[in-house]
Amino acid sequence: MIWKKSLFMSAPVLFAFMCVVSIHTATLSAQLPPPAHDPGVRGGAAGAGAPLAGLTAGQLLFFNEGKADFDEQETVPDGLGARFNLDSCGGCHAQPATGGTSPAINPEVAMATAAGAHNTPPFFVQSNGPVREARFKFQADGVTRDGGVHDIYVITGRSDAPSGCQIMQEDFDAQNARGNVIFRIPTPAFGTGLMEAIPDGTIAGNLALNATGSSGRPRPIR
Ligand code: HEC
Repeated sequence: MIWKKSLFMSAPVLFAFMCVVSIHTATLSAQLPPPAHDPGVRGGAAGAGAPLAGLTAGQLLFFNEGKADFDEQETVPDGLGARFNLDSCGGCHAQPATGGTSPAINPEVAMATAAGAHNTPPFFVQSNGPVREARFKFQADGVTRDGGVHDIYVITGRSDAPSGCQIMQEDFDAQNARGNVIFRIPTPAFGTGLMEAIPDGTIAGNLALNATGSSGRPRPIR
């Protein structure tokens, strides 16, 4: 019954024990950095999203054309559908500037019924939540890997959809019940033009040099 005895420590022993504990805690808190603190949404001007300084007139034109295209709202005649997530790049990539991540109000909610569509936002799409894209882990057989993005909406009912279009939304509740859905929020695309500007030959050359010990296979975008 040793454990019982230890419950009845004498007052001085208890006191000494508590001192040790509190000294120990004090030492620990002196060593640890202050607890992490979320500063919330940053105020002030956006620190990204503008063109680089010193572009030539042609480069600036190219940037502005690209940005306009990024923000343009597409319609079915432009190529929207038959399944889709939203009608513009800039709708999802918006915070703190065009090219960034989700805006404060998720545009996927209004998109559900825009232009007369009858979509129902899936359970993971909420006004005050982030823009979400859904990927399925596996195909219907439950074995073959999928991994692809499965669009949340369809063009059925939209005023610009071809008549007779009856395509149905994916059943995300059923997929979720199978534990088959994973989510992604928009990656800010700032600076990807700079990466794009690296000639393929430089990437291949660096790989051949292997100076950093990195390895892999370059995947050119065509
Ligand atoms: C419905 C919202 C949505 C729309 C519309 C959208 N994106 Fe994205 N974007 C995302 C999400 C979510 C990711 C992260 C994807 C992932 O990790 O699976 C992403 C990632 C990206 C990336 C980073 C890719 C990488 O591998 O690092 C780029 C670049 C990008 N989007 C460009 C675009 C362009 C260009 C368009 C328009 C043609 C567009 N996005 C439209 C949500 C969106």
